[in-house]
Amino acid sequence: MANITRDFFIGLSNNHFLNSQAKKWGFSLGADKFVAGTTVDSVLKAVKKLNAQGISCTLDSLGEFVSDKTEASQAKEKIITLLNEIDREKLDCHLSVKLTQLGLDIDRDFCIENMKEILRTAKQYDIFVNIDMEDYAHYDETLEVLEDLRKDYGNVGIVIQSYLYRAEDDLADLKDVRIRIVKGAYKESEEVAYPDKTDIDLNFLALAKQRLLGDTFTSIGTHDHHIINELKAFAKENNIEHDKFEFQMLYGFRNDLQNKLADEGYNFCTYIPFGDDWFGYFMRRLAERPQNMNLVMKDMFYT
Ligand code: FDA
Repeated sequence: MANITRDFFIGLSNNHFLNSQAKKWGFSLGADKFVAGTTVDSVLKAVKKLNAQGISCTLDSLGEFVSDKTEASQAKEKIITLLNEIDREKLDCHLSVKLTQLGLDIDRDFCIENMKEILRTAKQYDIFVNIDMEDYAHYDETLEVLEDLRKDYGNVGIVIQSYLYRAEDDLADLKDVRIRIVKGAYKESEEVAYPDKTDIDLNFLALAKQRLLGDTFTSIGTHDHHIINELKAFAKENNIEHDKFEFQMLYGFRNDLQNKLADEGYNFCTYIPFGDDWFGYFMRRLAERPQNMNLVMKDMFYT
């Protein structure tokens, strides 16, 4: 049953018609619990609030699978505006971007040029930019684009998904790159990804421990307190300095745990999505945790 529900919401997240219609609806279905508004002003307000609580942020200007060059260029301009504002306001904040928003499906060189413009501006302000990992169909190309960008830019990192069998090998090739480890949010075939949650969790722990023992900064992206507790204990046993890693969670999830980790002295970073293109992101969050449906029901019946 859990798999059917998951597949249903992931199917909705990929539906082009619903994604484009949702932009016209404005926020609905309880999406505002997980998305910090539609404008740069609204997201900066959320960042300031979290920064005041000792929490760093990474911003995602929502959008993905763009098939039109003008739209991709507009997305790039919005991201550059965001960088200018982060610097102007001196916020503790970096960026998360998706290559399919910046034209990867249209023309790879065009996407790379867009990324270079973003990284040039970010470098000038000493801001880090993380490339989110999307579905497996874009996996190899995403790693190749990263390799290309890293020839000129050191302020770029990537995400590794523990549901992929090849995650360990790829992580070994990325020793010097700042990485976020996550479980993986897309529906992938058993040929490339563990179907079983226990294997995904065990692989997550193995990958994270391997990174914690290495030299490069790692973000641990999960809401799973079992994993977080085990990694806290591992860091303590192995005298791993707190400045070598951070925990990351998504905006609106487990706020109590987010604050607790920050209060305990761990580096903590909240991933904040914003913008009109909220539908696909929101459907993936429902796929991961059907309990989030409660918020949808409340929104439909009580507002
Ligand atoms: P999971 O959903 O596996 O839950 C494990 C356990 O944790 C649950 O059984 C429950 O006990 C507890 N739990 C989880 N959520 C809870 C809640 N809200 N309240 C109470 N208990 C809860 N994916 C991707 O493919 N590419 C990417 O680039 C990213 N980026 C990214 C950034 C960040 C900061 C995060 C946190 C996640 C991503 N993801 C992602 C999504 C990721 O791959 C994954 O789908 C989700 O994080 C869900 O997995 P979790 O590890 O959080 O817990």
